[in-house]
Amino acid sequence: MKVTVGVSGGIAAYKAAELVRALQQHAIDVHVVMTEAAMQFVQPLTFASLTGHKVITTLWVAPESPDSNLDSAIEHIEAAQTTDLLVVAPATANILAKFAHGIADDFLTTLYLATTAPVIVAPAMNVNMWQHPATQANVESLAARNVRIVPPEVGYLACGMTGSGRLADTPAIVEAVLDVLQHRNDLAGETILVTAGGTREALDPVRFLGNRSSGKMGYALAEAAERRGARVVLVTAPTALRPPAGVEVISVINTEQMREVVLNRMREASIVIKAAAVADYRPAKQAEQKMKRSGPLTIELEPTEDILAEAVSRRRPGQLIVGFAAETQDAVAHGRAKLMRKGADAIVLNDVSREGIGFDSDRNAVTFLTPTTAVELPEMSKRDLADRILGEILGLRRPQKVITESSVIE
Ligand code: CTP
Repeated sequence: MKVTVGVSGGIAAYKAAELVRALQQHAIDVHVVMTEAAMQFVQPLTFASLTGHKVITTLWVAPESPDSNLDSAIEHIEAAQTTDLLVVAPATANILAKFAHGIADDFLTTLYLATTAPVIVAPAMNVNMWQHPATQANVESLAARNVRIVPPEVGYLACGMTGSGRLADTPAIVEAVLDVLQHRNDLAGETILVTAGGTREALDPVRFLGNRSSGKMGYALAEAAERRGARVVLVTAPTALRPPAGVEVISVINTEQMREVVLNRMREASIVIKAAAVADYRPAKQAEQKMKRSGPLTIELEPTEDILAEAVSRRRPGQLIVGFAAETQDAVAHGRAKLMRKGADAIVLNDVSREGIGFDSDRNAVTFLTPTTAVELPEMSKRDLADRILGEILGLRRPQKVITESSVIE
């Protein structure tokens, strides 16, 4: 495995040496690319000595020069094609901004544009720089492009301030690298249909019945599946999120529209993940004109179709169908009953009564329920959780114990 470590110019640049050593302990062939600013903090010789490879610091070294370590005249393309992963640690605010905007004015930024290998960034900077909306927007746009972010930690910073901005510890960065390498293309050949967001049922031309789903979990699943090599179809009810790159996005508004698309497109899917929060009821009648205020109002609702149950009834042999369940009480018991009732292969159970996670949060904790098992996935970012859930779904393909309904009562 060849991993390129990109070092940009922050005080944490010296910690990249430790990262290089740690990666080598996992039998990874590490190559280092430094920006001009990084060389103000650490000598390329440090990394050259550690890796046994010349360190690339500029776009402008002629191939015949003794400083060139590649035969090709277009080193960045060669390096881009031969690396299995690019990890930038530390990633300064400047490098994040350049990556986010596609500026390619040195070797590292050009390599980022030219490579199709997975990219990880571990930001490190002053707390105000990290929290600045410009930096946060850049991180958000990189994440939407499937760049994995290893967030900075809270602590005492070199600038004398305390707060978020300290480079993540080496083991956290190594773990992200190993995780990405291990899962690289493990979903190749799969077509995964993911539903996300909360459906809206119109009352009149301007009002609707909706729910609090942000769509973050479904989008994180779509993004993770794409990163791991799957072809992804994301059927999304309205959200405020930017769709992940490389994913086919089909936008719908209400349950009926979502039903039509899911039942049609599930035919090509090997895995269906129903993360959307779908309305259970819709107004029996939709007013053609905006309803006027006139005393108490009673609205008659009619049940919607259960898309998950219908999808299960049309399941092809070998196709996996996974639902979500948001519960506020007796979560596991209700989740299990729902799993049996709907006949899905598994249910991802959200206990939405817990504070600080779920709905609009970036973090969540869930239980992955199958007819025979209940795997607790503890609180973590929805991005990490997405990978864990995909892992559990793939695990469903391993032979399961044959069970009877009576043996699953807890
Ligand atoms: N779901 C669906 N169609 C519906 C309602 C729900 O496909 N009309 C799916 C959701 O996408 C989710 C799963 O069913 O994957 C469970 O959703 P939830 O609302 O928790 O289940 P309900 O069957 O509506 O159960 P409850 O009585 O708890 O509302």
